[in-house]
Amino acid sequence: MSAQILDGKTIAAEIRGDIKGRVKAILAAGGRPPGLAVILVGENPASQVYVRNKGRACDEVGFHSEVHALPASTSRSELLDLIDRLNAAPRIDGILVQLPLPDHLDGTVVTERILPTKDVDGFHPYNVGRLVLRMPLLRPCTPKGIMTMFKRTNQTLAGLDAVVIGQSNIVGRPMALELLAARCTVTICHSRTKDLADKARGADLLVAAVGRPRFVQADWVKEGATLIDVGMNRGADGRLVGDMDFAACSERASWITPVPGGVGPMTIATLLENTLQAAELHAGEAT
Ligand code: GUN
Repeated sequence: MSAQILDGKTIAAEIRGDIKGRVKAILAAGGRPPGLAVILVGENPASQVYVRNKGRACDEVGFHSEVHALPASTSRSELLDLIDRLNAAPRIDGILVQLPLPDHLDGTVVTERILPTKDVDGFHPYNVGRLVLRMPLLRPCTPKGIMTMFKRTNQTLAGLDAVVIGQSNIVGRPMALELLAARCTVTICHSRTKDLADKARGADLLVAAVGRPRFVQADWVKEGATLIDVGMNRGADGRLVGDMDFAACSERASWITPVPGGVGPMTIATLLENTLQAAELHAGEAT
C-alpha cells in the first residue's frame, strides 16, 4: 500500500482564497479589514520565521496586520501593557503572542491577559474550557486545521481508535479534545507512557506532535491507518523533517500528511479563519 497524501498546502490555499473573497465582501459593504497583532519577544530564529509567515499570510488575504517585535529583556508589565492596548484597539481583532517566551515571562499569565474574543490561538482558559465542554468559540489553530483537513477529504472519524503522541497545550491536548468531540476513542501518550509502540500500533488514526525527527517508525503503524505528522524539525542540512519516517510509514498507511506541506500551512490558514471569526464577533458587538 502507498498512502494518499493529505495535501495541507492545497487545502490551505483554497481556504486563503475563500477568506480573501470574504474580506473583499466586507470592504465592499463598508466594513474594515480584520486585524491581527502578533507579538514576538526575543530573537528565537524559528519564531521569527513563523511570525514573518503569519504576516505574509495576512497581507495576502487583505487583513490589517502588525508585528510587535520586542527585545528579550522586555518586562512582564511592559508586555501586559501592550496586550491591554491591543485589547482596546478597535482595528485589532486577534492578538497572538508567539511562544515560547523568554524564561522570565510566564506564558499562562500573558495568555490570560488577552481578551477571550481576541484570543485567535485559542489558548486562553476561557476558550480551552469551551472546547472541553464541546461549545467551542476560538479553537487552537493546529488541531482545528487538522480537523478541517479531515472534513475536506471526507474522512469518517466516529468510532476510530485515535492515538495522540504529545500532551502539549498547543497541540496534543486540544487535538485529543477535537477527536473526542468527533467521537473517536482517544489515547494521549507522552514521555512517561509505557509500551508506546504498542499503543501506536492500535491506532486507526495516529497524530505525532513530539518534536523529534522520524520518531514514529513504520513498524509502529497499523496497516491502513491515517497518519498526521505535526513535527517541524530542522535537520542538519537545514531541511524540514517530521516526527514520522515518512517514506517507510507511507507504505503502511492509507493517508499521511507530508512535511513540509501538510499540517504547517493548515495552521496558518486556520489562524486567518480564527481572525476572521473574531472580526465577525467584534462586528456583532458593535451593532
Ligand atoms: N509556537 C509554536 N506554535 C505556536 C502557535 O500555534 N501559536 C503561538 N502563539 N506560538 C506558537
